[in-house]
Amino acid sequence: MGGKVFVSIGMSLDGYIAGPNARPGNPLGDGGMKIHRWVYGVEAWRERQNLGGGGTNVSGEIVEENFERAGAYVMGRRMFAEGEEGWPDPPPFRAPVFVLTHTPRDPWERQGGTTFHFVTEGPEAALERARAAAGGKDVQISGGAETVRQFLNAGLVDELEVHLAPLVLGSGVRLLDGVDPGVTLTPERTVGTGEVTHIRYRVATG
Ligand SMILES: NC(=O)c1ccc[n+]([C@@H]2O[C@H](COP(=O)([O-])OP(=O)(O)OC[C@H]3O[C@@H](n4cnc5c(N)ncnc54)[C@H](OP(=O)(O)O)[C@@H]3O)[C@@H](O)[C@H]2O)c1
Repeated sequence: MGGKVFVSIGMSLDGYIAGPNARPGNPLGDGGMKIHRWVYGVEAWRERQNLGGGGTNVSGEIVEENFERAGAYVMGRRMFAEGEEGWPDPPPFRAPVFVLTHTPRDPWERQGGTTFHFVTEGPEAALERARAAAGGKDVQISGGAETVRQFLNAGLVDELEVHLAPLVLGSGVRLLDGVDPGVTLTPERTVGTGEVTHIRYRVATG
């Protein structure tokens, strides 16, 4: 069975994970980079971006925890397409990444242990492959919304962690549109700083 399946995702207070017009070259859409403002000064995040410096705080502990527990990742092709040009090499994952898409593509190996595998058979197949690759560690569903929605509705997610930014975006890509109201969320941990509130929910379906 392996480890847990968790989502960890940044969101504006009005429910958006990206602003409008998100595309390669405009990652996270108009204004969307502000969702992650809290992370840019975090040492543990900067290290994975191959940047120096940064500080430590409770947000840094959460970033470290997520990287530590994730043995493999699943993401949607639109998230991948933005990162394909934006992520450094080595990319921040340092683990296998399974990209949902309808277009087959050969695996793309990067430095530092990250290989992107393209999965055309849907979320269950992607998760099965991610679990097998994770070596008993947890699997992170990285986003975007279309991907998270399918995993939630299929009852495949154990934990949802939202990094809630005190920010109104007004439009863009909403995280929870189309999520089945039968999905129930029980808060397990809430911590934060002046820039962000991290809320971890245990997820149940039905
Ligand atoms: N705030 C955050 O922390 C955060 C985290 C992650 C992503 N994001 C943002 O979210 C946005 C992308 O989210 P999104 O909801 O538009 O898209 P997404 O979930 O990243 O990707 C959707 C794509 O995944 C593929 N896909 C999804 N379900 C599939 C299935 N069942 N079978 C086969 N392929 C499937 C399709 O690719 P094809 O078109 O290739 O078939 C689809 O177009 C980006 O702007 C990204 O920056 C934000």
